[in-house]
Amino acid sequence: MFNDKAILITGGTGSFGKQLVKTLLSQYQPRKVIVYSRDELKQFEMAQEFNSPAMRYFLGDVRDRDRLRLAFQGVDYVVHAAALKQIPAAEYNPMECIKTNINGANNVIDVALEQGIDKVIALSTDKAVNPINLYGATKLAADKLFVAANNIAGAMKTRFSVVRYGNVVGSRGSVVPFFQKLIQEKATEIPITDPRMTRFWITLQQAVNLVLDSFERMQGGEIFVPKIPSMKITDLADALAPGIPTKIIGIRPGEKLHEAMFSEESSHLAIEFADHYVIKPTIEYTRVVDYSCNALGEKGVAVPEGFEYSSESNTEWLSGFQLLDILKL
Ligand SMILES: NC(=O)c1ccc[n+]([C@@H]2O[C@H](COP(=O)([O-])OP(=O)(O)OC[C@H]3O[C@@H](n4cnc5c(N)ncnc54)[C@H](OP(=O)(O)O)[C@@H]3O)[C@@H](O)[C@H]2O)c1
Repeated sequence: MFNDKAILITGGTGSFGKQLVKTLLSQYQPRKVIVYSRDELKQFEMAQEFNSPAMRYFLGDVRDRDRLRLAFQGVDYVVHAAALKQIPAAEYNPMECIKTNINGANNVIDVALEQGIDKVIALSTDKAVNPINLYGATKLAADKLFVAANNIAGAMKTRFSVVRYGNVVGSRGSVVPFFQKLIQEKATEIPITDPRMTRFWITLQQAVNLVLDSFERMQGGEIFVPKIPSMKITDLADALAPGIPTKIIGIRPGEKLHEAMFSEESSHLAIEFADHYVIKPTIEYTRVVDYSCNALGEKGVAVPEGFEYSSESNTEWLSGFQLLDILKL
Protein backbone atom coordinates (compact mmCIF):
# COMPACT_ATOMS: atom_id res chain seq x y z
CA MET A 1 0.00 0.00 0.00
CA PHE A 2 2.89 2.40 0.69
CA ASN A 3 5.26 1.31 -2.08
CA ASP A 4 5.82 4.05 -4.65
CA LYS A 5 3.56 6.42 -2.67
CA ALA A 6 4.29 9.90 -1.32
CA ILE A 7 3.46 10.12 2.39
CA LEU A 8 3.52 13.39 4.33
CA ILE A 9 3.70 13.46 8.12
CA THR A 10 2.83 16.69 9.92
CA GLY A 11 4.82 16.67 13.16
CA GLY A 12 7.19 14.19 11.52
CA THR A 13 10.07 15.04 13.87
CA GLY A 14 8.08 13.98 16.96
CA SER A 15 8.25 10.62 18.75
CA PHE A 16 5.50 9.11 16.60
CA GLY A 17 6.70 10.69 13.34
CA LYS A 18 10.24 9.36 13.68
CA GLN A 19 9.06 5.82 14.39
CA LEU A 20 6.69 6.02 11.42
CA VAL A 21 9.51 7.19 9.13
CA LYS A 22 11.76 4.38 10.39
CA THR A 23 9.02 1.82 9.70
CA LEU A 24 8.13 3.17 6.24
CA LEU A 25 11.77 3.19 5.14
CA SER A 26 12.55 -0.28 6.50
CA GLN A 27 9.37 -2.11 5.43
CA TYR A 28 8.28 -0.35 2.20
CA GLN A 29 9.69 1.46 -0.79
CA PRO A 30 7.87 4.80 -0.61
CA ARG A 31 8.47 7.29 -3.43
CA LYS A 32 8.69 10.15 -0.94
CA VAL A 33 8.37 10.58 2.82
CA ILE A 34 7.87 14.24 3.71
CA VAL A 35 8.42 15.52 7.25
CA TYR A 36 6.50 18.75 7.92
CA SER A 37 7.28 20.62 11.16
CA ARG A 38 8.56 23.96 12.48
CA ASP A 39 11.89 23.48 14.24
CA GLU A 40 14.94 23.41 11.92
CA LEU A 41 17.21 21.79 14.52
CA LYS A 42 14.93 18.77 15.00
CA GLN A 43 14.75 18.38 11.22
CA PHE A 44 18.53 18.77 10.87
CA GLU A 45 19.12 16.07 13.50
CA MET A 46 16.54 13.80 11.92
CA ALA A 47 18.14 14.24 8.48
CA GLN A 48 21.43 12.92 9.94
CA GLU A 49 19.62 9.77 11.03
CA PHE A 50 17.28 9.33 8.06
CA ASN A 51 19.05 10.35 4.87
CA SER A 52 17.37 7.99 2.37
CA PRO A 53 16.84 9.61 -1.08
CA ALA A 54 13.09 9.26 -0.43
CA MET A 55 13.25 11.70 2.50
CA ARG A 56 12.14 15.32 2.20
CA TYR A 57 12.22 17.86 5.04
CA PHE A 58 9.76 20.72 4.86
CA LEU A 59 9.85 23.53 7.42
CA GLY A 60 6.32 24.74 8.03
CA ASP A 61 3.56 25.35 10.52
CA VAL A 62 0.16 23.65 10.31
CA ARG A 63 -1.29 27.10 11.01
CA ASP A 64 0.08 28.22 7.63
CA ARG A 65 -2.29 27.12 4.86
CA ASP A 66 -0.11 28.42 1.97
CA ARG A 67 2.85 26.44 3.20
CA LEU A 68 0.72 23.31 3.60
CA ARG A 69 -0.52 23.80 0.02
CA LEU A 70 3.05 23.71 -1.29
CA ALA A 71 3.98 20.71 0.83
CA PHE A 72 0.89 18.65 -0.10
CA GLN A 73 1.51 18.79 -3.88
CA GLY A 74 1.73 15.28 -5.34
CA VAL A 75 1.15 13.61 -1.94
CA ASP A 76 -0.95 10.40 -1.71
CA TYR A 77 -1.36 9.96 2.05
CA VAL A 78 -1.15 12.37 5.00
CA VAL A 79 -0.62 11.46 8.65
CA HIS A 80 -1.53 14.42 10.82
CA ALA A 81 0.55 14.03 14.00
CA ALA A 82 1.48 17.69 14.68
CA ALA A 83 0.01 18.94 17.93
CA LEU A 84 0.70 20.84 21.10
CA LYS A 85 0.17 18.17 23.75
CA GLN A 86 1.48 19.35 27.11
CA ILE A 87 -1.62 19.68 29.33
CA PRO A 88 -0.37 22.54 31.59
CA ALA A 89 1.02 24.51 28.61
CA ALA A 90 -2.40 24.32 26.95
CA GLU A 91 -4.12 25.61 30.10
CA TYR A 92 -1.76 28.60 30.35
CA ASN A 93 -1.69 29.33 26.59
CA PRO A 94 -5.16 28.30 25.44
CA MET A 95 -5.25 30.16 22.13
CA GLU A 96 -1.88 28.71 21.06
CA CYS A 97 -3.24 25.20 21.62
CA ILE A 98 -6.47 26.07 19.76
CA LYS A 99 -4.56 27.59 16.82
CA THR A 100 -2.37 24.52 16.36
CA ASN A 101 -4.69 21.67 17.31
CA ILE A 102 -7.99 22.98 15.90
CA ASN A 103 -7.15 25.60 13.25
CA GLY A 104 -4.18 23.50 12.15
CA ALA A 105 -6.43 20.43 11.74
CA ASN A 106 -8.90 22.52 9.73
CA ASN A 107 -6.09 23.72 7.45
CA VAL A 108 -4.89 20.15 6.90
CA ILE A 109 -8.43 19.13 5.91
CA ASP A 110 -9.03 22.03 3.52
CA VAL A 111 -5.66 21.65 1.80
CA ALA A 112 -6.02 17.85 1.59
CA LEU A 113 -9.36 18.32 -0.21
CA GLU A 114 -7.95 21.00 -2.46
CA GLN A 115 -4.89 18.95 -3.41
CA GLY A 116 -6.84 15.69 -3.92
CA ILE A 117 -4.98 13.67 -1.26
CA ASP A 118 -6.25 10.05 -1.22
CA LYS A 119 -6.31 9.35 2.51
CA VAL A 120 -5.66 11.34 5.67
CA ILE A 121 -5.31 9.89 9.17
CA ALA A 122 -5.24 12.19 12.19
CA LEU A 123 -3.91 11.08 15.57
CA SER A 124 -6.13 11.44 18.61
CA THR A 125 -5.87 10.60 22.28
CA ASP A 126 -7.97 9.10 25.06
CA LYS A 127 -7.84 12.60 26.61
CA ALA A 128 -10.33 13.66 23.89
CA VAL A 129 -13.03 11.49 25.51
CA ASN A 130 -15.20 13.54 27.91
CA PRO A 131 -12.31 16.01 28.13
CA ILE A 132 -11.52 17.88 31.33
CA ASN A 133 -8.51 19.79 29.99
CA LEU A 134 -8.05 22.07 26.98
CA TYR A 135 -5.61 19.71 25.26
CA GLY A 136 -8.28 16.96 25.27
CA ALA A 137 -10.98 19.42 24.23
CA THR A 138 -8.95 20.61 21.23
CA LYS A 139 -8.24 17.02 20.18
CA LEU A 140 -11.96 16.23 20.44
CA ALA A 141 -12.73 19.25 18.24
CA ALA A 142 -10.09 18.10 15.76
CA ASP A 143 -11.60 14.56 15.73
CA LYS A 144 -14.99 16.10 14.92
CA LEU A 145 -13.46 18.15 12.09
CA PHE A 146 -11.85 15.06 10.53
CA VAL A 147 -15.03 12.98 10.80
CA ALA A 148 -17.17 15.78 9.30
CA ALA A 149 -14.60 16.35 6.53
CA ASN A 150 -15.86 13.15 4.82
CA ASN A 151 -19.19 14.87 4.40
CA ILE A 152 -17.59 17.99 2.92
CA ALA A 153 -15.57 15.70 0.60
CA GLY A 154 -18.80 14.51 -1.05
CA ALA A 155 -17.87 13.13 -4.46
CA MET A 156 -14.18 14.05 -4.04
CA LYS A 157 -11.90 11.07 -3.45
CA THR A 158 -10.27 12.25 -0.20
CA ARG A 159 -11.15 10.19 2.88
CA PHE A 160 -10.40 11.11 6.49
CA SER A 161 -10.18 8.87 9.55
CA VAL A 162 -8.87 9.17 13.09
CA VAL A 163 -6.70 6.85 15.16
CA ARG A 164 -7.09 7.26 18.92
CA TYR A 165 -4.76 5.70 21.51
CA GLY A 166 -3.55 6.07 25.09
CA ASN A 167 -0.21 6.86 26.74
CA VAL A 168 2.87 5.94 24.75
CA VAL A 169 5.43 4.09 26.88
CA GLY A 170 8.47 6.33 27.23
CA SER A 171 7.21 9.27 25.12
CA ARG A 172 8.77 12.70 25.70
CA GLY A 173 7.64 14.37 28.94
CA SER A 174 5.69 11.31 30.13
CA VAL A 175 5.78 9.52 33.49
CA VAL A 176 8.23 6.74 32.54
CA PRO A 177 11.18 9.04 31.64
CA PHE A 178 10.23 11.20 34.64
CA PHE A 179 10.50 8.25 37.06
CA GLN A 180 13.69 7.07 35.34
CA LYS A 181 15.26 10.52 35.87
CA LEU A 182 14.31 10.47 39.56
CA ILE A 183 15.87 7.01 39.96
CA GLN A 184 19.07 8.19 38.24
CA GLU A 185 19.20 11.16 40.59
CA LYS A 186 18.94 8.71 43.53
CA ALA A 187 15.57 10.08 44.70
CA THR A 188 14.42 8.74 48.08
CA GLU A 189 10.72 8.92 47.16
CA ILE A 190 8.69 8.38 43.98
CA PRO A 191 5.74 10.81 43.70
CA ILE A 192 2.39 9.17 42.94
CA THR A 193 -0.60 11.36 42.16
CA ASP A 194 -3.22 8.84 43.31
CA PRO A 195 -2.71 5.12 44.05
CA ARG A 196 -5.99 4.28 42.24
CA MET A 197 -4.88 5.88 38.97
CA THR A 198 -4.82 3.71 35.82
CA ARG A 199 -3.79 4.44 32.23
CA PHE A 200 -3.90 2.70 28.85
CA TRP A 201 -0.40 1.92 27.52
CA ILE A 202 0.82 1.41 23.97
CA THR A 203 4.30 1.18 22.45
CA LEU A 204 5.34 3.57 19.70
CA GLN A 205 5.69 0.68 17.26
CA GLN A 206 2.17 -0.56 18.09
CA ALA A 207 0.87 2.96 17.46
CA VAL A 208 2.67 3.13 14.11
CA ASN A 209 1.40 -0.33 13.06
CA LEU A 210 -2.12 0.67 14.04
CA VAL A 211 -1.95 3.77 11.83
CA LEU A 212 -0.52 1.82 8.89
CA ASP A 213 -3.19 -0.90 9.28
CA SER A 214 -5.89 1.78 9.54
CA PHE A 215 -4.90 3.18 6.12
CA GLU A 216 -5.78 -0.25 4.71
CA ARG A 217 -8.97 -0.67 6.75
CA MET A 218 -10.45 2.82 6.47
CA GLN A 219 -13.54 3.82 4.53
CA GLY A 220 -13.59 7.37 5.93
CA GLY A 221 -15.25 8.69 9.09
CA GLU A 222 -14.08 6.01 11.55
CA ILE A 223 -12.24 6.53 14.80
CA PHE A 224 -9.97 3.50 15.20
CA VAL A 225 -9.21 2.47 18.79
CA PRO A 226 -6.70 -0.31 19.54
CA LYS A 227 -7.25 -2.96 22.21
CA ILE A 228 -4.35 -2.25 24.54
CA PRO A 229 -3.56 -3.04 28.17
CA SER A 230 -3.98 -0.84 31.23
CA MET A 231 -1.58 -0.44 34.12
CA LYS A 232 -1.92 0.98 37.61
CA ILE A 233 0.45 3.86 38.33
CA THR A 234 1.55 2.08 41.52
CA ASP A 235 2.52 -1.08 39.53
CA LEU A 236 4.47 1.14 37.16
CA ALA A 237 6.35 2.74 40.06
CA ASP A 238 7.04 -0.69 41.65
CA ALA A 239 8.42 -2.02 38.36
CA LEU A 240 10.69 0.95 37.66
CA ALA A 241 11.75 1.72 41.22
CA PRO A 242 11.44 -1.44 43.34
CA GLY A 243 12.12 -0.74 47.00
CA ILE A 244 11.87 3.06 46.72
CA PRO A 245 8.97 4.35 48.85
CA THR A 246 6.17 6.26 47.11
CA LYS A 247 4.70 9.58 48.22
CA ILE A 248 1.08 10.49 47.38
CA ILE A 249 1.02 14.04 45.98
CA GLY A 250 -2.61 14.25 44.83
CA ILE A 251 -4.15 14.40 41.39
CA ARG A 252 -2.90 17.30 39.24
CA PRO A 253 -5.11 19.89 37.47
CA GLY A 254 -6.52 18.51 34.24
CA GLU A 255 -5.83 14.87 35.17
CA LYS A 256 -8.39 12.07 35.53
CA LEU A 257 -8.15 8.99 37.73
CA HIS A 258 -8.88 6.77 34.73
CA GLU A 259 -9.06 7.38 30.98
CA ALA A 260 -11.58 6.05 28.47
CA MET A 261 -11.19 5.42 24.73
CA PHE A 262 -14.93 5.72 24.34
CA SER A 263 -17.61 6.26 26.95
CA GLU A 264 -20.84 4.37 27.54
CA GLU A 265 -22.71 7.26 25.86
CA SER A 266 -20.91 6.33 22.62
CA SER A 267 -21.37 2.57 22.97
CA HIS A 268 -24.15 2.53 20.36
CA LEU A 269 -21.56 3.73 17.82
CA ALA A 270 -18.81 1.25 18.70
CA ILE A 271 -18.01 -1.91 16.74
CA GLU A 272 -15.62 -4.55 18.05
CA PHE A 273 -13.07 -6.17 15.73
CA ALA A 274 -10.43 -8.78 16.64
CA ASP A 275 -7.75 -6.36 17.85
CA HIS A 276 -9.46 -2.97 17.75
CA TYR A 277 -12.72 -1.04 17.97
CA VAL A 278 -14.22 1.33 15.43
CA ILE A 279 -16.37 4.27 16.51
CA LYS A 280 -18.80 5.13 13.74
CA PRO A 281 -19.55 8.78 12.91
CA THR A 282 -22.55 10.30 14.70
CA ILE A 283 -23.53 12.01 11.45
CA GLU A 284 -24.74 10.35 8.26
CA TYR A 285 -23.02 10.94 4.95
CA THR A 286 -24.78 10.97 1.59
CA ARG A 287 -22.89 7.78 0.68
CA VAL A 288 -23.85 4.74 2.73
CA VAL A 289 -20.97 3.04 4.55
CA ASP A 290 -21.17 -0.31 6.33
CA TYR A 291 -18.64 0.16 9.12
CA SER A 292 -19.15 -3.40 10.40
CA CYS A 293 -17.15 -4.65 7.39
CA ASN A 294 -13.96 -2.69 6.72
CA ALA A 295 -12.08 -2.12 3.44
CA LEU A 296 -10.10 -5.33 4.04
CA GLY A 297 -13.32 -7.33 4.45
CA GLU A 298 -12.76 -7.85 8.22
CA LYS A 299 -16.04 -8.03 10.11
CA GLY A 300 -16.93 -6.54 13.48
CA VAL A 301 -19.89 -6.71 15.85
CA ALA A 302 -21.65 -4.00 17.84
CA VAL A 303 -20.52 -3.76 21.48
CA PRO A 304 -23.16 -4.32 24.20
CA GLU A 305 -25.19 -1.20 25.01
CA GLY A 306 -23.62 0.81 27.84
CA PHE A 307 -20.16 -0.70 27.31
CA GLU A 308 -17.33 1.68 28.14
CA TYR A 309 -13.74 1.03 27.07
CA SER A 310 -11.98 2.43 30.10
CA SER A 311 -8.51 1.96 31.59
CA GLU A 312 -10.20 1.05 34.90
CA SER A 313 -12.53 -1.72 33.66
CA ASN A 314 -10.15 -3.01 30.95
CA THR A 315 -9.76 -6.81 30.91
CA GLU A 316 -6.15 -6.66 29.72
CA TRP A 317 -3.43 -5.51 32.14
CA LEU A 318 0.29 -4.86 31.72
CA SER A 319 2.50 -6.43 34.38
CA GLY A 320 5.67 -4.83 35.73
CA PHE A 321 7.75 -7.51 33.97
CA GLN A 322 6.06 -6.82 30.64
CA LEU A 323 6.69 -3.09 31.04
CA LEU A 324 10.38 -3.69 31.76
CA ASP A 325 10.61 -5.97 28.70
CA ILE A 326 9.11 -3.23 26.52
CA LEU A 327 11.55 -0.65 27.90
CA LYS A 328 14.52 -3.00 27.26
CA LEU A 329 13.48 -3.20 23.60
N1 LIG B 1 2.67 10.77 23.14
C1 LIG B 1 1.52 10.26 23.58
O1 LIG B 1 1.46 9.69 24.67
C2 LIG B 1 0.27 10.37 22.70
C3 LIG B 1 -0.85 9.62 23.06
C4 LIG B 1 -2.00 9.69 22.25
C5 LIG B 1 -2.00 10.52 21.13
N2 LIG B 1 -0.92 11.27 20.82
C6 LIG B 1 -0.98 12.15 19.64
O2 LIG B 1 0.00 11.72 18.72
C7 LIG B 1 0.50 12.83 17.99
C8 LIG B 1 2.03 12.80 17.96
O3 LIG B 1 2.49 12.83 19.28
P1 LIG B 1 4.04 12.75 19.61
O4 LIG B 1 4.16 12.00 20.88
O5 LIG B 1 4.82 12.30 18.42
O6 LIG B 1 4.33 14.31 19.90
P2 LIG B 1 5.72 15.07 19.94
O7 LIG B 1 6.85 14.14 20.11
O8 LIG B 1 5.55 16.20 20.90
O9 LIG B 1 5.81 15.68 18.46
C9 LIG B 1 4.96 16.70 18.03
C10 LIG B 1 5.38 17.10 16.62
O10 LIG B 1 4.51 18.14 16.15
C11 LIG B 1 5.31 19.19 15.62
N3 LIG B 1 4.54 20.42 15.75
C12 LIG B 1 4.08 21.02 16.88
N4 LIG B 1 3.41 22.14 16.55
C13 LIG B 1 3.43 22.24 15.20
C14 LIG B 1 2.90 23.17 14.27
N5 LIG B 1 2.20 24.24 14.68
N6 LIG B 1 3.10 22.96 12.95
C15 LIG B 1 3.81 21.88 12.53
N7 LIG B 1 4.34 20.97 13.36
C16 LIG B 1 4.15 21.14 14.69
C17 LIG B 1 6.60 19.14 16.44
O11 LIG B 1 7.71 19.71 15.76
P3 LIG B 1 8.08 21.28 15.86
O12 LIG B 1 7.97 21.64 17.30
O13 LIG B 1 9.44 21.35 15.31
O14 LIG B 1 7.09 21.98 14.99
C18 LIG B 1 6.80 17.63 16.51
O15 LIG B 1 7.35 17.17 15.30
C19 LIG B 1 -0.13 14.07 18.60
O16 LIG B 1 -1.20 14.48 17.77
C20 LIG B 1 -0.65 13.61 19.94
O17 LIG B 1 -1.81 14.34 20.32
C21 LIG B 1 0.24 11.20 21.57
